[in-house]
Amino acid sequence: MRIDAVAARDFNRIKVEPMTGAIGAEVSNVDLRDFDDEVIAEVQQAWLDHKVLFFRGQDLTQGQHVEYGRALGELEVHPFVQHVEKHPEIIVLDSSPQSFLSADTWHSDVTFREAPPLGSVLFGRVIPGWGGDTCFANMELAYDLLDDAVKEQIDGMYAIHSYAKAFGRGMSEQEQAEAQEEYPDQKHPVVRSHPVTGNKILFINRQFTLGIDGMTADESRPLRRLLVRQAEIPEVQCRFRWEENSIAQWDNRCTQHYAVPDHGGQRRRVERVTLLGDRPF
Ligand code: SIN
Repeated sequence: MRIDAVAARDFNRIKVEPMTGAIGAEVSNVDLRDFDDEVIAEVQQAWLDHKVLFFRGQDLTQGQHVEYGRALGELEVHPFVQHVEKHPEIIVLDSSPQSFLSADTWHSDVTFREAPPLGSVLFGRVIPGWGGDTCFANMELAYDLLDDAVKEQIDGMYAIHSYAKAFGRGMSEQEQAEAQEEYPDQKHPVVRSHPVTGNKILFINRQFTLGIDGMTADESRPLRRLLVRQAEIPEVQCRFRWEENSIAQWDNRCTQHYAVPDHGGQRRRVERVTLLGDRPF
């Protein structure tokens, strides 16, 4: 299968090197503590081109992380994940030998919201000596690679997204009922359009999508399984090896990601700001 989905282009200020033919690029020649409008405009264009951008050697304080995120859009406060006291926009994913934690289910972030996030900016604060990479999948390509018959079948379908599988487990019944009231299940199109490019995107994920609207769990299971597995095709992916002070920044509308839980007993702490998005159509 020949994959050449990316368009490499030259910029005035930043340097952009594609990572695979499907998704991802490393951006250099930029200091995210000190950016101007031209740099942000170039980053935004490269972000649209490559869907996930990676930066290295960005020695940002938490405040500078928030400032950079705000330069890209408005930030959300996550309803369930632990955040930094001084900066509620930053969530912390801290995995230690005492308390192992990993986002090791393919997903886009927070799709249980009526308007799921536009994107996320993840900062590598403590990185293990080996393991703990993050994989990303291009969900436009994942859609393109479906059989025509499946594309026809899912055209116009909606899927149900819920907070419950990922965040409901540790909650009491009372807490679950309150969370369900505040964050009721959402119906999103199985095939959404990118609001900027208009491209079609397979918008269904293993972590938050319960099933297909109008079908019982048993009826929707085979189709759901087939669709969530599209993110697992190696040809739609890239894989990022973290270093301390690296950043991965993904367009949450057209990608999914998976943190590989293979860092053994080593600590891994990443911190994320998440940009508000719009209602999928
Ligand atoms: C996330 O899902 O936001 C975290 C991904 C990671 O830990 O690499």
